[in-house]
Amino acid sequence: MCGIVGYLGKKEKTISVLIEGLKALEYRGYDSAGIAYQKENKIKITKSVGRLQNLEQKIKIENTVLGIGHTRWATHGKPSTTNSHPHQVGSITLVHNGIIENYIELKQFLEKHNYQFQTETDTEVATALIDYCYQETKNMISALKRAQKELKGSYAFAILNNEEPNILYAMKKESPLILGKTKEELFLASDPMAICAYTNNICYLKEGSILKLEPKKITLIEENETIPIWVTLDMEQTKCSKNGYDHYMLKEIYEQPDVIYNTVMPYLENNLENLHKMPNFNQYEKIQIVACGSAYHTGLVGKWMLEGVGNIPVEVEIASEYRYKKVFYDKKTLVIVVSQSGETADTLASLRKANKDNIDTLAIVNVITSTIAREAKYVLPVKAGIEIAVATTKAYLAQLALFSLITLKLMIEKKLIENEELEELLAHYQKLPIKIKKLLKELNVKELASKTYKNEDIFFLGRGIDYAICTEASLKLKEISYIHSEAYAAGELKHGTISLISKKTPVFSLVTDKEISEKTISNIKEVKARGAYSIVITTGQLDEKSDYYDDKIVIPNTHFLLQPILNIIPFQLLAYEIAKLRNCDIDKPKNLAKSVTVE
Ligand code: F6R
Repeated sequence: MCGIVGYLGKKEKTISVLIEGLKALEYRGYDSAGIAYQKENKIKITKSVGRLQNLEQKIKIENTVLGIGHTRWATHGKPSTTNSHPHQVGSITLVHNGIIENYIELKQFLEKHNYQFQTETDTEVATALIDYCYQETKNMISALKRAQKELKGSYAFAILNNEEPNILYAMKKESPLILGKTKEELFLASDPMAICAYTNNICYLKEGSILKLEPKKITLIEENETIPIWVTLDMEQTKCSKNGYDHYMLKEIYEQPDVIYNTVMPYLENNLENLHKMPNFNQYEKIQIVACGSAYHTGLVGKWMLEGVGNIPVEVEIASEYRYKKVFYDKKTLVIVVSQSGETADTLASLRKANKDNIDTLAIVNVITSTIAREAKYVLPVKAGIEIAVATTKAYLAQLALFSLITLKLMIEKKLIENEELEELLAHYQKLPIKIKKLLKELNVKELASKTYKNEDIFFLGRGIDYAICTEASLKLKEISYIHSEAYAAGELKHGTISLISKKTPVFSLVTDKEISEKTISNIKEVKARGAYSIVITTGQLDEKSDYYDDKIVIPNTHFLLQPILNIIPFQLLAYEIAKLRNCDIDKPKNLAKSVTVE
């Protein structure tokens, strides 16, 4: 999603800081980009559609001390040079992340005051509004304060005023923005990745902040704060390279044994000391899990674990729905939000809704410096490290591991687990990273990928916790390969969707829950009878001569709570191999963004 970088510093460095900063934000997804910089008391703007290299080809390298840059992920108006940022109206040039909700009424107001608009964007309206407020007062801080009162929605702005050389302004509400500094330079960014090559000394701007940056001088206007609170960025979190792999996604899949080790082991050491430090889950009568996309899918698996083994009712909600619906919660409810980025707008809004109603909240989050991590009452960190590929793999897996640990804590609190079973489960946890490593080494899904990649519809079937995993398997496939795919609860298919099964339609069935495997096998027989190309993924030793599958993948067995962590892995690799055969842009699928900071 959109990215911002701003720089005030050394004249020979500005353009390269902007370009390199934008490159570091590419992983978030974008469709156009632009920069603006100050040159001889004028603001020069260069913009371009598509990949950053198109912009780079257009940019003249000039000496300048001040500039702003932006990668745009279109919301209002198609991707085009005109719609891309920076926007300029009157004295004001700015870049914007977020959505201005009342831009139509503001536009009507500004049109009455002789403003004309060239683009379809909400951002151009915000630019005109700030110019209007500035022309009235000729004081930027007053103008920004006034604009703040008028603007509804979310925004992070980096702003230049061509009447005030060498000054960079910023303002934020509900969209992340950070300030960075070295002795002689000041940086702005929507994501630490954009500036971590230059500084680890950063400040997270609070809601409603207005910032004025002059050479070596910072003026901060926040509700209760005028002095920035500096923190040191953990550079380990920002290191990234493909490490010899063709794609970040593949590298991240192969990092999963370490990710599981790093996420789980701290809870198991010293007689489960850290596990016991988790909140007391037994005080709650209900859990609500709220998230988007893959994080929502981990919630579906979490529900099966927590209800099935932890014996507590769980509701799983899509954050974009939850934030606007009537929610039934009380002091006995724990709201768990799950997010890799910790910045997803709808998940954050859901967290704030629960916080506002004084409901206990817990965040399972990968980016530990994110807004969600900072605002939740309790935080369980996912130790996945930076995830670059848009399609999540390792963060998803670690989220599953954390749900298993919450369930384990609950089982201990409720005395649902005997010592012997606990020892056995802990031994399974210890062996899990090695099992994942072995599975990754031995799995070969290339042949299956080559048999299926030309299809335009692929189905995933499962029951119970296997179905929950299928939802993620299906999303992985469609987001990176652009093949239409659906995950179905195996018993539900015949209530309509089975009409889509025809000769050679690939149907992947996950059958690992022994209690209901016979039922799932009956459903597989139904699709097989209609000509489907049936592939079964199982932990069991299936009858070699069986007539209900054409191919199979066998996954190693582990404890019931940990089995889903192994089960998703073949599907991640399958999606990857299929997308590769279809020549897709695997790490940056079309239309998608890594961090969805607008609703
Ligand atoms: C899919 C994917 C998305 C995210 C979703 C939530 O591979 O990555 O579906 O899971 O956008 O993002 P986070 O976890 O950052 O809140």
